[in-house]
Amino acid sequence: MKIVIGSDHAGYELKKAVVEHLLESGNEVVDVGTDSMESCDYPDFAPPVVSGIKSGDFERGILVCGTGLGMSMAANRYAGVRAALVSDLFSAEMSRRHNDSNVLVLSGMITAPPLARKIVDVWLSTEFEGGRHSKRIAKLDQIGDTP
Ligand code: RB5
Repeated sequence: MKIVIGSDHAGYELKKAVVEHLLESGNEVVDVGTDSMESCDYPDFAPPVVSGIKSGDFERGILVCGTGLGMSMAANRYAGVRAALVSDLFSAEMSRRHNDSNVLVLSGMITAPPLARKIVDVWLSTEFEGGRHSKRIAKLDQIGDTP
């Protein structure tokens, strides 16, 4: 699978572990930064990941920050992005089966590499169920600024 990944400084270490795992598992990975633990701003790294997904160049995206909260807020501002902040295996599976999540968000402060690797594996290998969930995804795409 072709995967685009990004992080801020607080997600950098976990991102490195995830990238290594993805490559070992035979995926193609492009890392859009950051490239060190030097302090930076998480909103700078969601756009290149989102653009990789929206252009169709990548099938899935992964974002990592300290809590995962900032990255999921940033990514979910874009129409067509369904970013799921995940720290357990059940949510990893359900975010694919029911929500067709196309961006996985991980927390470098909460999730240790062994669990993150399992989350990534489940998330990548679980299919969207479609059916009644497709209608709900379509409704998500209708949501705009006016409630
Ligand atoms: C960085 O200190 C931290 O605020 C950031 O990684 C993230 O947790 C934001 O939501």
